[in-house]
Amino acid sequence: MTLSAPPVPDNDLMRYLRERGSTRNFKTDPIPDAWLEALLAAGQRAPTSSNMQVYSIVVVKDAQTKQKLAEFAGNQKHIIDSPVFLALCADLNGPALACEMHGTSFHGQTFEKGLVAAIDASLVGMTISLAAGTMGLSTVMIGAMRNKPLEVAELLGLPPRVFVVFGLCVGWPKTSPIPKPRLPMPAVVHQERYDASRLPELVEQYNRELAQYYRDQNRETPDDAWTQVISDKYSKPARQHLRQHLNTLGFGLE
Ligand SMILES: Cc1cc2nc3c(=O)[nH]c(=O)nc-3n(C[C@H](O)[C@H](O)[C@H](O)COP(=O)(O)O)c2cc1C
Repeated sequence: MTLSAPPVPDNDLMRYLRERGSTRNFKTDPIPDAWLEALLAAGQRAPTSSNMQVYSIVVVKDAQTKQKLAEFAGNQKHIIDSPVFLALCADLNGPALACEMHGTSFHGQTFEKGLVAAIDASLVGMTISLAAGTMGLSTVMIGAMRNKPLEVAELLGLPPRVFVVFGLCVGWPKTSPIPKPRLPMPAVVHQERYDASRLPELVEQYNRELAQYYRDQNRETPDDAWTQVISDKYSKPARQHLRQHLNTLGFGLE
């Protein structure tokens, strides 16, 4: 006799994940302080490499600061509209202080240490985004903070060894997002050994699904909705200044 597997749990988080999508259309209503505090506390529960906690968050509510950040990000209006903008930073100041306290020399300027800090900041941001989603709030991440890392750092008063990896707009959605389709699972999940033999066929399938998704929303799209955009992105250099600017901010990404 074979035992049947218990049903897959269907809880708030699983339901939210099925329906989630980024929001770029926010009401201007504020987020109660206690809710924001709860979100930040949830973010602090994220796993962190070797308990290093090499991240920090700058909470921005000020309209003028959001206006400037929106400009730096190529005029992304949702940064202005969302009541709270969180700047998720890679931050090596804790380890620098620990070295100072123990009389050791700080060797944080390596690619590995910079990467670890960026991963920590990302996990915290994602955790906040998930917590917000299950509370009826909505978010969009803003990688365009890396368009002008030095200007962003100056505006937010960041000390050396801190840079904004991405931002997170948090607020009340005006409308529920319509979940954007994803690549078919076999394009990204491999069983035991990597196998990309079906990738071309799966990507073609996804092009059709994504084009349909955009057309259902009356948005213009080419038939090859995914590959055209992605090939455009990957055939041109982007943010070539980034390494040099992050070096200026105290990250040695060599
Ligand atoms: C690291 C990161 C940076 C992003 N940067 C931006 C951004 O600058 N502006 C924006 O409108 N969306 C941004 N997004 C949102 C993505 O465009 C979005 O997640 C993706 O198109 C999938 O759509 P969905 O989140 O609605 O499922 C970013 C997402 C990530 C993970």
